[in-house]
Amino acid sequence: MRYDQINNSLFIENRKRFISQMKPNTIAILVSNDVKHNNADDVMGFAQNNDLFYLSGIDQEETILVLYPDAYKEENRAVLFVKETNEQIKIWDGEKLTKEQAIEVSGIDRIEWSSNFEMTLQYMAFEADGFYLGHNEHLKRATKDQETQQNRMIKWCKEKYPLHEYYRAAKITRSLRPVKSDKEIQLVQKAADISINSFVSVLKACKATMKEYELEAELAYNLVKSGASHHAFQPIVASGKNACALHYNTNDSTCNDGEMILLDFGICYANYNSDTTRCFPVNGKFSKRQAAVYTAVLHCLKEGSKLLKPGILPIDYEKNMANLVENELIKLNLLDTNDVANQNPKKPLYKKYFMHGTAHYLGLDVHDVGLYSRPFEAGMVLTCEPGIYIPEEGIGCRLEDDYLITENGNINLTAAMPIEIKDIEALMNN
Ligand code: GLY
Ligand code: MN
Ligand code: MN
Repeated sequence: MRYDQINNSLFIENRKRFISQMKPNTIAILVSNDVKHNNADDVMGFAQNNDLFYLSGIDQEETILVLYPDAYKEENRAVLFVKETNEQIKIWDGEKLTKEQAIEVSGIDRIEWSSNFEMTLQYMAFEADGFYLGHNEHLKRATKDQETQQNRMIKWCKEKYPLHEYYRAAKITRSLRPVKSDKEIQLVQKAADISINSFVSVLKACKATMKEYELEAELAYNLVKSGASHHAFQPIVASGKNACALHYNTNDSTCNDGEMILLDFGICYANYNSDTTRCFPVNGKFSKRQAAVYTAVLHCLKEGSKLLKPGILPIDYEKNMANLVENELIKLNLLDTNDVANQNPKKPLYKKYFMHGTAHYLGLDVHDVGLYSRPFEAGMVLTCEPGIYIPEEGIGCRLEDDYLITENGNINLTAAMPIEIKDIEALMNN
């Protein structure tokens, strides 16, 4: 693995917290993701299932974690199944985890080869009353019509054990994962630090007539050199009006003199992510209008992020941010005060220029799991990302930082990423 091995106390603690929420005499089964295939014999690579990683630390395909805390035999209380290697795998792919390494990474004493899963489970299922199975329940999940290993496990288990009770492992993990431990916060901070350095490199590299993908290359170079595994998501390098397409990521346009670039990117380090957005002028000097829009968004970021503190409901935080942006849109002459006073509250006018939410959980997933009906709590990590998009002026501006909520307020984990106009211009002109 590219990252420093994580102390297994993180996963031991995570399992303890997960188990404390399981119903009596039940078994939890968590499975790894598939290696995604491309065309022919090409593969797109492997990204671990984040619930399995959270509970085991294992970053390898064909892994199954079984937890049966009430098993009468101690050896059955936690069993980790990993892929058994062979000469062919060694020759073509290299080493897989040994049982000793799997113990070291996960802190689980009993490691079995994946081929022993069915028989081992049969002994446990005989005693148990029900199963917790993993499933992607994310509110924006993108798995439409895609069969996953989790889907296959649900189907297999329900066919083999139709009369057991079934429960949702994701309901437990979505309650645990939003509140980060100190170790997890360090890992998000590491990803954030790589982002900060990468952004400075982009600022220094930017020149008019460059292609957007040349700036993307700066990000890729920095992240690989820093031991990160991959972009947290396909980075958005959007010059001029491209910045008004919220998920633009073809990054194939020319960065023209006079345009502003929106750069929304994240780093995945040890499976933990950062997610930041900055905007800067291609030629190193904000125009008057770009500076006005940028200053408006920066004001919303600074003011809005103050509500990322314990006890605040996400819905109230979002409402406050909408009010802040609405006021700025009036000052920018994009909305009229009277029109706003008389607007249909169900169709507020600001949505023409600001159409997305501004806080999401961040962690093992960029849009990390967790309920948005839950008040903010110390230990949560969230983004704050207000924006103003004016396609008719070829300006799209979003600013995004990552915040750790503390007992008294929050800490901006990406505070060292240049954001003041004078700092950005100074870096671009040195
Ligand atoms: N880049 C995705 C987001 O900011 O949420
Ligand atoms: Mn974000
Ligand atoms: Mn982002």
